Amino acid sequence: MSDDARVPTAILISGRGSNMVALLAAARDPDYPARIVLVLSNRPDAGGLSLAREAGIPTAVVDHAAYPDRESFDAALDARLREAGVELVVLAGFMRILTEGFVRAWEGRMINIHPSLLPAFRGTRTHERALAAGVAEHGCTVHHVVPELDAGPTIAQARVPVLPGDTPETLAERVLAEEHTLYPRALADVALALRDARRGQRM
Ligand code: GRF
Repeated sequence: MSDDARVPTAILISGRGSNMVALLAAARDPDYPARIVLVLSNRPDAGGLSLAREAGIPTAVVDHAAYPDRESFDAALDARLREAGVELVVLAGFMRILTEGFVRAWEGRMINIHPSLLPAFRGTRTHERALAAGVAEHGCTVHHVVPELDAGPTIAQARVPVLPGDTPETLAERVLAEEHTLYPRALADVALALRDARRGQRM
């Protein structure tokens, strides 16, 4: 696939970046429909940044602590993404709530992965809450980002069983393994749909 046909994509992280690593690995295939042009973190100490650099991907830090409010942080983020020619934004453990203005500007072109079977367990501590609720099945969801947290349309889900003796850690590990295959597949689907839409507009 020519570089031109691959949707220029940014991955936004705040931490270790294991989903980012899975996405970068998938995008090394020249036929993968998304091209990762930037890995951006809101935290200068995010572990994933050095992994991205080692993979030869351009990185950027927009440190939220350097901005007086969410609006100015989001404006800086938006500027950095546009400067890099980004058309699709992938949140992968990005731990900042985004303003409605930013989300609306990227709506339909911004996706997230959440460690639960949405609409169950929006928000944090999902594995602990799934165990406390006694569910038999848990998993992860890739969804479009809308202003309301973890409430956007679902793109794909993967399920895992909850096993006797599970702790939040063992359950998280089982879910994370699924995230690493689900997210690259879901990103490919979204990138293909965007590319087709782009072609349609040109015709
Ligand atoms: C993952 O569990 C993801 O579902 C959630 O944040 C975690 C990020 O992990 N949104 P990593 O940084 O990709 O390893």
